[in-house]
Amino acid sequence: MEGRSTLALVVESDKVVLLDTTTALGELDWKTYPVNGWDAITEMDEQNRPIHTFQVCHVMEPNQNNWLRSGWIQRQAAQRVYVELRFTLRDCNSIPWVSGTCKETFNLFYLQTDEPLSAATRFRPTDYAKVDTIAADESFTQTDLGDRVLRLNTEVREVGPVTQKGFYLAFQDVGACIALVSVKVFYKRCPSTLRNLAAFPDTVPHMDSSSLVEVRGACVENAEERDTPKLYCGADGDWLVPLGRCVCSIGHEETDGYCRACKPGFFKAYAGNTKCSKCPLRSSSHDQAATICHCDKGFYRAIKDPSTMACTRPPSPPRNLVSLINDTALFLQWMPPSDTGGRKDITYNILCQRCDGGDGDGVVTQCEPCDPDLRFIPRPLGITGTSVAILDFAMQANYTFHVEAVNGVSGLGVAARSLANVTVNTHQAGPALVGVVRKDWSSQNSIALSWSEVEQPPSDFVDYEVKYYEKEQEQLSYSSTRTKTPSVVVTGLRPSTVYVFHVRARTAAGYTAYSPNFEFATAAEDIADQGQVLVVVTASVGGFSLLVILTLFLLITGRCQGYIKARMKSEEKRRTRFHSGHVPFSGIKTYVDPDTYEDPTQAVEEFAKEIDPSYICIERVIGAGEFGEVCSGRLRIPGRMAIAVAIKTLKGGYMEQQRRDFLREASIMGQFNNPNIIRLEGVVTKSKLFICLSVCVFMHIDLPVMIVVEYMENGALDSFLRTRDGQFTVLQLVGMMRGIAVGMTYLSEMGYVHRDLAARNILVDENLVCKVSDFGMSRVLEDDTEAAYTATGGKIPIRWTAPEAIAYGKFSSSSDVWSYGIVMWEVMSYGERPYWEMSNQDVILSIEEGYRLPAPMGCPVTLHQLMLHCWQKESNQRPRFNDVLSFLDKLIINPSSLLALVNDVQSFPDSPEDMPDYPLFISIGDWLDSIKMSQYKNNFLAAGYTTLDSISTMSIDDIRRIGVCLIGHQRRIISSIQSLRLQLHHIQQSGFQV
Ligand code: ADE
Repeated sequence: MEGRSTLALVVESDKVVLLDTTTALGELDWKTYPVNGWDAITEMDEQNRPIHTFQVCHVMEPNQNNWLRSGWIQRQAAQRVYVELRFTLRDCNSIPWVSGTCKETFNLFYLQTDEPLSAATRFRPTDYAKVDTIAADESFTQTDLGDRVLRLNTEVREVGPVTQKGFYLAFQDVGACIALVSVKVFYKRCPSTLRNLAAFPDTVPHMDSSSLVEVRGACVENAEERDTPKLYCGADGDWLVPLGRCVCSIGHEETDGYCRACKPGFFKAYAGNTKCSKCPLRSSSHDQAATICHCDKGFYRAIKDPSTMACTRPPSPPRNLVSLINDTALFLQWMPPSDTGGRKDITYNILCQRCDGGDGDGVVTQCEPCDPDLRFIPRPLGITGTSVAILDFAMQANYTFHVEAVNGVSGLGVAARSLANVTVNTHQAGPALVGVVRKDWSSQNSIALSWSEVEQPPSDFVDYEVKYYEKEQEQLSYSSTRTKTPSVVVTGLRPSTVYVFHVRARTAAGYTAYSPNFEFATAAEDIADQGQVLVVVTASVGGFSLLVILTLFLLITGRCQGYIKARMKSEEKRRTRFHSGHVPFSGIKTYVDPDTYEDPTQAVEEFAKEIDPSYICIERVIGAGEFGEVCSGRLRIPGRMAIAVAIKTLKGGYMEQQRRDFLREASIMGQFNNPNIIRLEGVVTKSKLFICLSVCVFMHIDLPVMIVVEYMENGALDSFLRTRDGQFTVLQLVGMMRGIAVGMTYLSEMGYVHRDLAARNILVDENLVCKVSDFGMSRVLEDDTEAAYTATGGKIPIRWTAPEAIAYGKFSSSSDVWSYGIVMWEVMSYGERPYWEMSNQDVILSIEEGYRLPAPMGCPVTLHQLMLHCWQKESNQRPRFNDVLSFLDKLIINPSSLLALVNDVQSFPDSPEDMPDYPLFISIGDWLDSIKMSQYKNNFLAAGYTTLDSISTMSIDDIRRIGVCLIGHQRRIISSIQSLRLQLHHIQQSGFQV
């Protein structure tokens, strides 16, 4: 039969076949009514399988009603049943003489029952429900040649809904010529499936074709639910709308829709659709389905370490632990361990023991924990830097300090603690303390103090230093005075004010520690007279008679009247500008702000010598200042050797205020006398006409106002270093820093705050002596091209200025110390610009985040640590200038302390977090072009450095190894690598994705 092969059963997973006459074996046992209506013909095919065909063709006879009924078909799970009929139907036109009786359709009926009807049941057409009248799409047709061609029709009808256990199909013929070739009965279903690691069973669609059947999936083995997995079965047997999912459990990964165990050497610690990971360094897994890799022997994982992190071990002990001791403080410094154990969370703990006895005379050394009053700055435990200062230690004692390096896995194993030890004998720290300080009397402006003698042989004793400050000012700045006797009258104080005093003695061996703080108040104003009387009485009795008599004498004769009057009028103004300690008192000289004079000319007259202009010969212009040219020349004062000088001029046409501002610097400079402060020779302010008669390049008819200072052959320190890149030894550089520290110690002790300490404001003479210059505070800042306006309207050199001074204008000697740290960095980097090309705003943000400049190339660790100390966020934790000075002195005395260099650009000891990896997209070539080092492109490429990412880990040794021999070039390349890292770090901190 034509098309038979195509009629073979195709098993379709979304259909369940209930009946297929083409595959039914044996007799079908279908019934016909009447018996001579439909004919059942069964033939055998080549494979001896039956072919069941039903035919009827009574087209000549009228009123045909022939029924063919199927056997009972079980419904099974079907809700909606489909019947597919294949048949041929003869065209009535092709049969002569049948026009009245021949039909071209037949009818399909069905009958539902819960069980098969008995054989005795009579066939009643009315029991059957009609499904449809079926017509042929095609029929027998005649070709042009007269042949008849058979066309096979296929029609599908939906039957139902069927709700009973089974049903019959019935075919009614009313006079057609039909051959029913096959009948297939089936229902549709959604086949079982795996989706999102969940299994869904075979599902029969809903009876109502418009609603979907919701099916919950079950996670496959070794998977777990993340949101209930669901699918919806549609009427056509399609799965729709997948929801939820399962993920592979720990130790398993997804492969081909199933969860398979991780192989040995791999692990998966979290459920999820990630793959198993290779065991991290120093760990392994031996079994399948590992959820964690176990650390190799001697290596550990801290509780917070992720399972993907390599196992690590405790660090080795700190290296090169040294102690330094000065009058009041003991410093311990060390270098990080050579083996960090593979971690970056190293901190240090200081363990202290005091050990007495054991001097070799049979007494056994006994050690006990140190007095809890010992103060450790910043703290005794959990120190992140590599130094600590210890205060309040006992004199004449032996201490042993253990510095322990710890990291996140210290204490997890049985390894010994990583300790470095140092023993310190505090005999070197100076003689014993001054005893109790008493107040003998007080007046409105003065307090008389005395104290018990220091326990020291008199021959060693030099004098006492009394330091004091207003209690309410909380040591913002202090004043000091000296006395040779154990008593003093501190004058120039404010009435009704509490002052804090402490006293130390100076001996040939150095200073003692300070006495404890003592607080005393001045008298209220109404008892002022009484105080005055007391001054006279006490002073005449005590050792101060000379001073008091002199003062009285001057007052009586009126020699100082003008001066005193002017200063007394300015008293209030000055007090608000400065703490009260800067008003004159007996003892050390303090700085007087020229602004406290009603007429600033008076300050110039008082502090600067007037020079006869004929003594000056200007030779050439060496620079330009805000007010006019700066020239070099010679100063020939009769009877003295001619000296080289620098002459700052105020250009003609100036206003009175400009003249005052200009001369203000002279009246400040004139108060200083120190080898490391630029020396003022004098000023020219008076003469109206000057004609230079010597051999001069310039001839001035209108005499400009001039400030004459000593000449510094090598000019400003920053440009000097830039032109001499790499040409000095570390010791020479430290010598320069020392000079600046001497000058700044002097200024801070005078109570002068510089505010613009920077290498450009340090001058260098022919012997490399560095001197602090550029005084005048606000004006200097106007002049300084580095100064930028802040949010509060001040003009500040951001890169050099301490955060508290930028944020709220809190300038102090401590903020000068911050700037000093930056100058140290400028010196060690031969005049590199601090923070390179970062914007001022980024500098401020980076500092706020805790970032600090890294060590310049070739910088000793000790110096970088001192810099970091100067850049402590809390101003009171920074060293003072005299601390800086004594630290540098110790380095100079012991140059081996300068040998350990911070050479590795990867080390950023004080950056807030470890630098993460980052992709860099510019090429090596572009980068080298940008720093004018293009000649090294081939060196980098030949050595395999092709991306900026790869150079970010280069050390100075690597730079040398690839053939960069010139030290200046090495410096520029290393500095640029540091700069790149800093900028990227900053970008990442600000939340940008690089
Ligand atoms: N530039 C400014 N002041 C100077 C000085 N004192 N010596 C040399 N150059 C200078």
